[in-house]
Amino acid sequence: MAPSQETRPTLSLKIGDRGELRLLCGDITRYPADAIVNAANSELEPGGGVCGAIHRKGGARIAEECRKIVRERGRVAPGAAATTTAGNLEAKYVIHAVGPVWRGGSAGESDALASCYRASVRIADDLNLHSIAFPAISTGIYGYPLDQASGAAIPALIEALREARRVALVSLVLFDESAFDAFARTARGQKNLQTGEPYEIAESSR
Ligand code: APR
Repeated sequence: MAPSQETRPTLSLKIGDRGELRLLCGDITRYPADAIVNAANSELEPGGGVCGAIHRKGGARIAEECRKIVRERGRVAPGAAATTTAGNLEAKYVIHAVGPVWRGGSAGESDALASCYRASVRIADDLNLHSIAFPAISTGIYGYPLDQASGAAIPALIEALREARRVALVSLVLFDESAFDAFARTARGQKNLQTGEPYEIAESSR
């Protein structure tokens, strides 16, 4: 699927033979991916931020499915994720990933943040999807600093892409330039753990 103009790719890392980790600035509710990830809370209630935007645009059906999940399975722990359909959104699914609230960095935040990225890619892979798009989970209302968040998110996504059987395109749709810059800095610094070499990077100017 071709990205729309607002979500022009700006930096891509080639992962393995067929994987791509793409970073760009944009609004995730307008981004064409098979699944988009919501930065959710444990109760899966419609909130503010990206969560509010997804529920508003996707329609009431998403919140109904969220309530059913919590009724049947209980709250979703930080680090985990749950799936609903995507209502009026272009995506097929919304994966509701619960990031940690930032408490200073020594309360297991980076493990929980990495875990919700990995869990979401695994869910998309089990659904046989090709593409999944993430916002910068936890970096808004939950207060996670952008540099530290990108340091947890990007290695987790590279690992998840390497392990995926079907998912081949993982996009990080970053809402503003400061988020893009922090995530792009971290992405440029990544090295292939097997070869010690940097990843092949393609960048387009904005
Ligand atoms: N597209 C992409 N990114 C967005 C969008 C959007 N339309 N709107 C906001 N963002 C960005 C924010 O700029 C921030 O960098 O998403 C990132 C995550 O911010 P939040 O939405 O505040 O999510 P989070 O910090 O994980 O807090 C989760 O907020 O909305 C509630 O229900 C949610 O309680 C949960 C909490």
